[in-house]
Amino acid sequence: MRGSRLKQILENMSPEQYALTVGTAAEESLAEAFVKRRVVHAGVRGKPIMPGEWQATWQSLLRQNIEPQQRVAYIHIPFCRHRCLYCGFFQNYSAAELEAVYIDHLIKELQMSRDSAYLASGPVNAVFIGGGTPSTLAPQQVARLLDAIRDCLPLANDYELTLEGRVNDLVPAKIEAWLDHGVNRVSIGVQSFNPEVRQGVGRLDDTQTILKRLELLTSYNQAAVIIDLIYGLPNQTNQVWANDINLLKTAAIDGMDLYQLNIYEDSALQQAINSGKLPPAATTAQQARMFAAAEAELSAHVFSRLSICHWRKTNRERSIYNTLTKAGHSVIPFGAGAGGNIGGVAMFLNRDVGNYIKSIEQGYKPVAGMLLQPADSGLHNMVIGQLERGFLQLSALAACYGPAVLELESLLEIWQGRGLLEIGPSVARLTVAGQFWYMNIAQSVLECLHALLDGEHSVEVQPIAAQG
Ligand SMILES: C[S@@+](CC[C@H](N)C(=O)[O-])C[C@H]1O[C@@H](n2cnc3c(N)ncnc32)[C@H](O)[C@@H]1O
Ligand code: SF4
Repeated sequence: MRGSRLKQILENMSPEQYALTVGTAAEESLAEAFVKRRVVHAGVRGKPIMPGEWQATWQSLLRQNIEPQQRVAYIHIPFCRHRCLYCGFFQNYSAAELEAVYIDHLIKELQMSRDSAYLASGPVNAVFIGGGTPSTLAPQQVARLLDAIRDCLPLANDYELTLEGRVNDLVPAKIEAWLDHGVNRVSIGVQSFNPEVRQGVGRLDDTQTILKRLELLTSYNQAAVIIDLIYGLPNQTNQVWANDINLLKTAAIDGMDLYQLNIYEDSALQQAINSGKLPPAATTAQQARMFAAAEAELSAHVFSRLSICHWRKTNRERSIYNTLTKAGHSVIPFGAGAGGNIGGVAMFLNRDVGNYIKSIEQGYKPVAGMLLQPADSGLHNMVIGQLERGFLQLSALAACYGPAVLELESLLEIWQGRGLLEIGPSVARLTVAGQFWYMNIAQSVLECLHALLDGEHSVEVQPIAAQG
């Protein structure tokens, strides 16, 4: 009987594992469908490659002359002028001299693979310069980096080149350096427009300054302007969040990401809350209601949905980098702390700027870890790619990976009964509650699929969401 194998797998779980995988039958599924958020990114797996093989593996990847397929590059700038309390991405404080030396080495790293068969094999469709805070770089440094990117990477004619930054850096000298050297998308972390919320977590500008600077950037008419907001920050009441969402309608932007706050264990934010310096952040249940309120408001206006947490206001926003990475396309990494994945090998580069520089000086790719991705990583990419767009189509998965995938129907029926998705004739669509919990759903789907397809079952829980 279809579903009997999955039923058996679920029956063999401990009550805790079952609750993490299937969730709980709650009155308000939006807020309580699962006991907690359990992963930041679903289904990350792989077999470690030994350090002694990293350089040879990298060189063999560069020798590959693969069929042209869409792919992207990620370039990391590990410097910030300030450290924000909530952030898990901070690496180093900005320092002009060190940044100049870092850019020298980043350019050298780009040049080291410029003439490879791999790069020559087809265009690079999108580049994301992320951080840290790439916008902190001085105009002459960022101009040098941007020129090297365009010199070393075979950019597609319709390439997307994103630079990530902060409102505080939206000044003409910097904006002009970005736009004159090929940036066509700028992603700005606003987090909240509310001054009290912002100051509490270490952000600088007030509401009017943010709006004026976004207008300035947009007035050049040269780049898509995207902003990030976070929901669930201390002092961000429902009314403050409603105002944040409301301002999106008139702000000079082309798109926005809405992120659920993760309070990492022992983070500066958790310490500030514990010591009473800041009021408590929203609980996961409160965040769920904030997400639903934003979704209702945005879908009632002229925003269109690109993924679970990304909306666009104008068609200047194409979101090529995000779409391709979520669907599992290759990501070529450059810079201290960058991560990527090429030809079935996931890799991350040395986070320590000193060690990164040393590797480049010795002519090595500064690899700090490599994982051989499992043979079924295509299945993983299909599941995440579908759920990111708010649906699951078991028939498409079964067409590639066999009928055992259809056993998942019984799990989808449980979730339908709990209001997390609606099963239609060809796809199951996530409800707003399902969208909020989609990372848990993705993790459970992937774990159940691995149990069904290769008999391996695990239930992963990562230390996130200390907000309870
Ligand atoms: C890598 S950060 C860089 C942003 C940029 N440096 C800035 O300060 O705006 C990218 C985005 O991750 C999001 N982010 C960072 N920490 C987060 C957390 N703890 N929970 C949720 N989102 C977070 C923020 O929205 C941020 O804009
Ligand atoms: S939010 Fe941006 S500026 Fe703040 S610490 Fe994180 S990366 Fe740096």
